[in-house]
Amino acid sequence: MSTLVEVKNLKKYFTTPRGLLHAVDDISFSIEEGKTLGVVGESGCGKSTLGRTVIHLLEPTDGQIFFEGEDISKPSKQKLRELRKKMQFIFQDPYSSLNARMNTMEIIMEPLLINGMKKDKAQEAARNIMDVVGVARRLEGVYPHELDGGRRQRIGIARSLVLNPKFIICDEPVSALDVSIQAQILNLMQDLQEQMNLTYIFITHDLSVVKYISDNILVMYLGNMVEFANTKELFRNPLHPYTKALLSAVPTVDIDAPRKRILLEGEIFSPINPKPGCRFASRCRFASEKCRSEQPAAKDVGGGHFVACHNLENVK
Ligand SMILES: Nc1ncnc2c1ncn2[C@@H]1O[C@H](COP(=O)(O)OP(=O)(O)OP(=O)(O)O)[C@@H](O)[C@H]1O
Ligand SMILES: [Mg+2]
Repeated sequence: MSTLVEVKNLKKYFTTPRGLLHAVDDISFSIEEGKTLGVVGESGCGKSTLGRTVIHLLEPTDGQIFFEGEDISKPSKQKLRELRKKMQFIFQDPYSSLNARMNTMEIIMEPLLINGMKKDKAQEAARNIMDVVGVARRLEGVYPHELDGGRRQRIGIARSLVLNPKFIICDEPVSALDVSIQAQILNLMQDLQEQMNLTYIFITHDLSVVKYISDNILVMYLGNMVEFANTKELFRNPLHPYTKALLSAVPTVDIDAPRKRILLEGEIFSPINPKPGCRFASRCRFASEKCRSEQPAAKDVGGGHFVACHNLENVK
């Protein structure tokens, strides 16, 4: 198995009227080909910014991105055009991401036409991918507003697959859908992953979804990676106090291991011109003086389980 994506010390800062917002701050990870990395964390912690920056929908402020072993941190225009075919994005809300004035066929075929394919060939390819994602051919001439959420998301998925990509950022792709439809779309995405050997970053705030779909999980807190581990390991043995609190909020049916919900209190640290120290310290019961003055680096505690915490021996 080979590494498809590697990210080293990635940073994305935004200039705002109040100062420099550190939306993604020094994040490193890698993803093996054909695997799924789940990214979780509260609203505003930088999940979408991370996903967008990895595939150059946003330019990184600093750090390195490798794709198929090649450094793509600062791609030329030509290189970026090549990468655009190999890296795609599936959005949360297919309604706002699909062009309302285009019908199903036009939406799916557009990336092919942009890349110079003749119309009849593009139509054929679009029909094939519609079959693969389960959109009936009778819907070819239908517009997004005439469809339900599940079908719209299937069309969004078809559009992102039509160029035969390798790597897809899925940003909350099922959170706008009814629960019954969510399962269908998640199963479809897993089947497609197997058939096409796709590699995913799957962004969500829904831990049951991420547990189901991910091989590894990256937990973010205010721009930082606080924990990274294999999915089973993370759910069995969460180590960072923030991860513990996050997981404690997931309902469990296991009566032998009832979880006590950990409520987080305290002021939320500002990611604008951040002060030194751990960003979680103001909400952490275990925080010491060191936590408030020195930012902890992510350390491998064994077997590729990374945690960024000064106080691991005290955290229970
Ligand atoms: N283009 C931008 N300009 C300035 N600030 C931005 C921009 N995009 C995002 N931000 C800020 O960066 C931070 C991270 O935002 P981001 O959208 O990545 O979070 P998220 O984890 O995806 O949140 P959600 O779960 O709500 O989607 C937020 O504070 C957000 O306000
Ligand atoms: Mg987001």
